[in-house]
Amino acid sequence: MILVIGATGTVGRGVVAGLAAAGRRVRAFTRDAAAAAAGLGPGVELAEGDLARPQTVRAALDGVDGVFVLSLGPDAAEHESAVAEEVRRCRVRRVVKLSSVAADEPAAGSYGRAHAAGELAFARSGAEWTALRAAAFMSNVVQWRASIAAESRVYQTYGDIPRAVVDPADVAAAAVECLTSDGHGGRIYRLTGPEALTAPQQAARIAAALGRPLEYVEAPREAAAEAMAAGGLPPAFAAGLLDALADSDPRRGGTPLPTVRHLTGCPAGTFDTWLASHLDELAPQRGPVD
Ligand SMILES: NC(=O)c1ccc[n+]([C@@H]2O[C@H](COP(=O)([O-])OP(=O)(O)OC[C@H]3O[C@@H](n4cnc5c(N)ncnc54)[C@H](OP(=O)(O)O)[C@@H]3O)[C@@H](O)[C@H]2O)c1
Repeated sequence: MILVIGATGTVGRGVVAGLAAAGRRVRAFTRDAAAAAAGLGPGVELAEGDLARPQTVRAALDGVDGVFVLSLGPDAAEHESAVAEEVRRCRVRRVVKLSSVAADEPAAGSYGRAHAAGELAFARSGAEWTALRAAAFMSNVVQWRASIAAESRVYQTYGDIPRAVVDPADVAAAAVECLTSDGHGGRIYRLTGPEALTAPQQAARIAAALGRPLEYVEAPREAAAEAMAAGGLPPAFAAGLLDALADSDPRRGGTPLPTVRHLTGCPAGTFDTWLASHLDELAPQRGPVD
């Protein structure tokens, strides 16, 4: 049995589907089992719980020999440390942690340091552990949806830094491989897409796919911090995210790597391919107006 933490999210959904397709028994950890049941296929067990309540993780680990784990938000490192403790207590054999290229030494901002701390906790858990340090996800551009609809503009901070954005489906496929085959214990894999793109370049690809012009606007850091605060993020946490975003070291997610192909046997998906199948998430088709 493999427990998937983050099972209802962008990456976790693909991990659940990939494990089920590989014939593995899957248990999905979620804060809302009723909502998750609708989105996850039949045959997926559900474990309702919350990373903030480690006893719910302990209950979900019953009979589990592999764990996929991700966490997010200001308490991510604390949550992962608690999961690692339960992994140690329950003697789970294998753990795959979704991490970030921001955890590369020296870690970028408090966001990168939190991921590095999570990795360390699993390294000490006694389990065979693997870290997947992903570059920025292609799906991050969905955050531009509202301003595309309202103003035909996209706003981004530190948008001129080229990022080898990765398809979350490739991250999920890499996780499935590491969870279901041997030889990945103690390994740290950096996952990227096949080309490095700046935000203006991504915006131009989206404009071409939508068939209408979009204006790119570089948003100052202060504006991004304000928007994050308005969205409810604590200022210190938002600053940590922006510090990681500001990092322009091309070795940290700015250079395409062959890791996805090495792990999955398939070339990493391109931004254009991702875009073609997710265009509705950026600009949903409008029905007839009466
Ligand atoms: N976006 C990027 O560019 C990027 C790049 C590299 C790494 N990452 C890392 O990827 C991870 C995010 O992955 P994602 O985008 O797939 O996530 P996501 O789509 O935002 O989904 C979040 C998932 O986490 C679960 N979750 C949230 N809080 C929880 C809690 N307190 N207890 C239990 N479950 C909880 C949610 O489950 P329920 O709602 O069902 O409870 C949901 O399944 C983060 O660690 C991030 O740092 C992101």
